[in-house]
Amino acid sequence: MSLATCLLTKGQEMEILMQTENGAKVLQVELGARSYPIHIGPGVFAEAGRLLRTVYSGRRAFVVSNPTVASYHLAALRQGLSAAGIAVEVWQAPDSEQAKNWEELYKILGWLLESRAERQTPLIALGGGVVGDLAGLAAALYQRGMPLIQAPTSLLAQVDSSVGGKTAINHPLGKNMIGAFYQPQQVWIDTSTLSTLPSREYVSGLAEVVKYGAIRDRAFFDWLEKNTEALLAREPAAVGYAIHQSCWNKAMIVAADERETGERALLNLGHTFGHAIETALGYGAWLHGEAVAAGMVLAGRLSARVCGLEESERQRLERLLTALGLPLTSPDFSLETWMTLMGRDKKVADGKMRFVLLERLGHAVVRQDIGEEELAQVIRGSEARGRESGRAKP
Ligand code: NAD
Ligand code: GLY
Repeated sequence: MSLATCLLTKGQEMEILMQTENGAKVLQVELGARSYPIHIGPGVFAEAGRLLRTVYSGRRAFVVSNPTVASYHLAALRQGLSAAGIAVEVWQAPDSEQAKNWEELYKILGWLLESRAERQTPLIALGGGVVGDLAGLAAALYQRGMPLIQAPTSLLAQVDSSVGGKTAINHPLGKNMIGAFYQPQQVWIDTSTLSTLPSREYVSGLAEVVKYGAIRDRAFFDWLEKNTEALLAREPAAVGYAIHQSCWNKAMIVAADERETGERALLNLGHTFGHAIETALGYGAWLHGEAVAAGMVLAGRLSARVCGLEESERQRLERLLTALGLPLTSPDFSLETWMTLMGRDKKVADGKMRFVLLERLGHAVVRQDIGEEELAQVIRGSEARGRESGRAKP
């Protein structure tokens, strides 16, 4: 039995093993008429033309990327598409979180118009979560929607942002505040692209991987604890399994709750705190996964206070994050700053902050009844810890 299957339940195993194609695994996000496959494997870009032909018969495709990713991976994608007679035209956005803004979005839309892109011509997002979110929103808006393909190249994008249809740009008052739900038609995860991903970015992506184990997949959490070294060494079997299991969990959640009216909110473990960190420090100062990791630590401490998370389980979460090289300590904001920043988060409903908390590892709940005092205790504890250990840094 392979590493990728040994820890799955019978049902999961069937789901995953039934669908192996040319060495790549294929998962399906079940959304009725908007269902789509996620192809995962080391040579997916070489197959891009064949994959796109299943949904598109034309000869042009548009690619949005950035100079960093394009320099490494555009050639392979271009070659894969040209094998099926599809030529690409490419837009390169700046390589930065700041690219998720109106101006860049508008430039992409202008480029599509000048290039006479037609409504059925696919737009391929080749890059990390920034490119995926920006290009995804452009695809949603262009002529009220053109086909979108997500071709994620960062670990974070491969395990999270490319699946589920959230697209967005930032506003100075809040991250991802302007966007749309817009599902891709296919997701192409070529795991070989990770070989060029800088270490800090790779580790940041591991935070979202831990999240899936913590919120709904205890066996996966156990597996992560045992495989930290293999993951940090980027051993292909371990990385492939982690991506696969993350996408499987995400696909299940999205299929159950596409628009985040319920279960999907669980994907935001650590994000209420994490988004506050990103907003306060300026987008990009801390990487998204780093902010989420520090946020999960605070969520774990709050869970221990109000949700019955056992101390030993809380410590396991912190130990795993530490073993993976993720930050535990949040920046030293005042309570007032935290409250203001978190009050602006999208997870506020009826004026009340919503927190994703853990009752135990592998089981998360959404709570909207957290008193200010409980929150203050956790945040003050974190301030004190920050002072003890020096300035928090990602
Ligand atoms: P990113 O897109 O900025 O990519 C990180 C860095 O890695 C960039 O410099 C990028 O050029 C580079 N890079 C990407 N792939 C590479 C590769 N294979 N080789 C070398 N360099 C590579 O950041 P990210 O962490 O991928 O994504 C973060 C963004 O995703 C945030 O804006 C966040 O809000 C968003 N996000 C969206 C969702 C969603 O559901 N839509 C979920 C989580 C995060
Ligand atoms: N990354 C959170 C979500 O997709 O809902």
